[in-house]
Amino acid sequence: MMEVLERAVNRSPLSALLLLSLLQLAGSDVTGEEVGRKPNIVLMMVDDLGIGDIGCYGNDTIRTPNIDRLASEGVKLTQHIAAAPLCTPSRAAFMTGRYALRSGMGSTGRVQVLLFVAGSGGLPPSETTFAKRLQQQGYTTGLVGKWHLGVNCEDRGDHCHHPNQHGFSYFYGLPFTLFNDCLPGEDSDVLADLQHTLRNLTMLLGVGLFTLVCVRVCGLLDVGLWLLVALFFLAILATGVWYMPFKLLSTWNCIIMRNQEVIEQPMTVETLPRRLLVEAQNFIKRNVDHPFLLLFSLAHMHTPLFQNPAFAGKSRHGRYGDNLEEVDWMIGEMTETVDSLGLANNTLMYFTSDHGGHLEDTDPRIGQKGGWNGIYKGGKAMGGWEGGIRVPGIFRWPGRLAAGRVVDEPTSLMDLYPTLKHLAKDTQPDRQLDGYNLMPLLEGKVERSEHEFMFHYCGIYLNALRWHPHGSDSIFKVHFFTPNFSPPGAGGCYDTKVCLCHGEHVTHHNPPLLYDLLRDPSESRPLTPDTEPRYAEILEQAAKAAERHRSTLTKVQASDDTHSHPNADAHGVQSQMTWDKILWKPWLQPCCGTFPFCGCKEDTTGI
Ligand SMILES: *[C@@H]1O[C@H](CO)[C@@H](O)[C@H](O)[C@H]1NC(C)=O
Ligand SMILES: *[C@@H]1O[C@H](CO)[C@@H](O)[C@H](O)[C@H]1NC(C)=O
Repeated sequence: MMEVLERAVNRSPLSALLLLSLLQLAGSDVTGEEVGRKPNIVLMMVDDLGIGDIGCYGNDTIRTPNIDRLASEGVKLTQHIAAAPLCTPSRAAFMTGRYALRSGMGSTGRVQVLLFVAGSGGLPPSETTFAKRLQQQGYTTGLVGKWHLGVNCEDRGDHCHHPNQHGFSYFYGLPFTLFNDCLPGEDSDVLADLQHTLRNLTMLLGVGLFTLVCVRVCGLLDVGLWLLVALFFLAILATGVWYMPFKLLSTWNCIIMRNQEVIEQPMTVETLPRRLLVEAQNFIKRNVDHPFLLLFSLAHMHTPLFQNPAFAGKSRHGRYGDNLEEVDWMIGEMTETVDSLGLANNTLMYFTSDHGGHLEDTDPRIGQKGGWNGIYKGGKAMGGWEGGIRVPGIFRWPGRLAAGRVVDEPTSLMDLYPTLKHLAKDTQPDRQLDGYNLMPLLEGKVERSEHEFMFHYCGIYLNALRWHPHGSDSIFKVHFFTPNFSPPGAGGCYDTKVCLCHGEHVTHHNPPLLYDLLRDPSESRPLTPDTEPRYAEILEQAAKAAERHRSTLTKVQASDDTHSHPNADAHGVQSQMTWDKILWKPWLQPCCGTFPFCGCKEDTTGI
């Protein structure tokens, strides 16, 4: 029926209209509205949630009935892979359907995520997101929650990286992320070692200056006045450089914006979950009559953990578990909103996490603070180890997807872009994409994923890859290098809290480490030529695939101005993660009030 109609539309709209009215006269159940109507999309992304944190992924001590219900009413993906084990690059890839280094969002060194709202790095305005695509197809688009892909480029008001610029016509939430500095009394998450060095340096300068002044005043030594003046200005400079950006981190980074207006600074953490949920629900309620895309990007499970009295002490896993059960409740509220408005059959709901749990995040007082990655090795910021990149992935669409299906084939968060584009009937040509339309797999029309190879990045460095050979169930995983754990053998980078991807922080393997994920999902027994007859062939195929993949990439430039290269893609991609783009720039700081005296509170009495 649809085909006949589509062909008619192509030939002449008038005959389509005629056909449609004939159908209606004949009492057909195909109404004009259903034919033309595109599905609503509700994407729910949790921060730092591990695959082992969820009941339907094998956790039997945590209660996640609402997430489990989504899975039992829809399709559960067991090999759903994030493009990177950290927020900024994973989210960039998710939004654009391409590996982060294609948009310059992969790290080249020490800095792996955006650290300040007032840095100039972010998702380049030249990039295209699925939100932009759907907006062009007539969708109402909204982002509620965390963004973490930059705000400004050159001045406070340009909003070149802002969600509004990237296809979301409505934004309410955190341009940055929830992080420890937002709550007094927690550790600092931003360059803690640099902060300490700068503070010590400043103190040393102060003490030195004081001593020299004393010495001079007492006439013990003839200390030159120029030296005192120089030291004095150095001390002021040092204070400005470390105190301003770091001491006021909660003012600079813990911000809530509604569209391009800062409405709370610094934010009140306690009421944040409630406000995000209500905003997300209201967005759906406002748009019942029109196809919409909502990305609900939760502030949970990033530290600091919330302490909502309604959930405190209720779970069997301390404060982390309490937060997890609160997330589950929020997912239930979202589902209930969709269902009670009668939208279920025409709404694709998706649940995922941006990457795996943060194993190193523990606290002697409250225990576990990062997520749990189940049987998988490694976690957040550990390159290609499975625990950091294999995340929950659930799709529910009662009118269209069979309930209770499980898909074990490799899939990627980058698949969302082409999938949504397909559902929005967007057939425009696109850039080089790394994801595939998931609908055939979700609907059970095909058995095999189109991902024969999948590449795993640590920063901009190709760290590992997986191969799912044609005609075989095997999943081989090849690690070209692995991050060095500290202390050695600890199973994580406990000394620095996150692993790094370059220089002396990694160990290169020649020959590469090889695992068979089908038989050894925990990556605990590397294969050898003796244990795996195809050993040599697998490594050869992997090397060839890596080479083919590399040939599709444009060079990442550490630093260059885009002005001389209007078409950045053709000449190389400008890195967004360099020091000069990351560090705090006062003139880029979003602010309510008069800079630097920023401060305001949202009126939350109604919530
Ligand atoms: C369930 O999740 C909690 C919280 O992350 C974790 O501590 C626990 O080990 C998990 N249990 C299982 C069986 O995976
Ligand atoms: C939704 O779709 C299912 C399966 O096709 C059907 O059984 C159900 O009646 C539909 N619900 C509504 C409200 O249309």
